[in-house]
Amino acid sequence: MALKLRIVPDPVLRKLADPVKTVDAQVSRFMHEMLEAMYTSNGVGLAAPQVGELKRVIVVDVAEEQDPAHAFMMADPEITWRSEELFTYREGCLSIPGQYAEVTRPKRIKLSYTDVNNKRVEMEAEDLLSTCIQHEIDHLNGVLFIDYVSKLKRDMMLKRVEKIQRLAAEEEQGGKVL
Ligand code: NI
Repeated sequence: MALKLRIVPDPVLRKLADPVKTVDAQVSRFMHEMLEAMYTSNGVGLAAPQVGELKRVIVVDVAEEQDPAHAFMMADPEITWRSEELFTYREGCLSIPGQYAEVTRPKRIKLSYTDVNNKRVEMEAEDLLSTCIQHEIDHLNGVLFIDYVSKLKRDMMLKRVEKIQRLAAEEEQGGKVL
């Protein structure tokens, strides 16, 4: 079953996701489905609430080529350290289609997470990988990258998404062009 991507203002995107605790066969299957959905949508990261599941699961792959071998599939990720040095990146989000904004976050982080084999792993990340992991963990807490820009800009981006969605829905309904 293909996962359905949730788009703002879907309320599920604003909810707090629950810990997974154990990565069993079911969670592992879900992680692989999420990875597939992320690749299909050409995203570099995806969090479970974005497909309507309030579980603390994220998948990330910032490499040029889509290859599950270098993807990260994480359950219950927890940032344990953030650098003072910052990194700014023009972020987008699969749940906020077509919208981008520069967001500044810690450049390097240390984190721990439970991997697809239910093993607790520690790692460090910097630059784009660090940004992406922070963006995805935000999703688990109901936070979106548009929360880091001014209210004026955020409202503008939300209106634009609404318009894009409306046009797409109208197009899908179709009808005869005379
Ligand atoms: Ni996102």
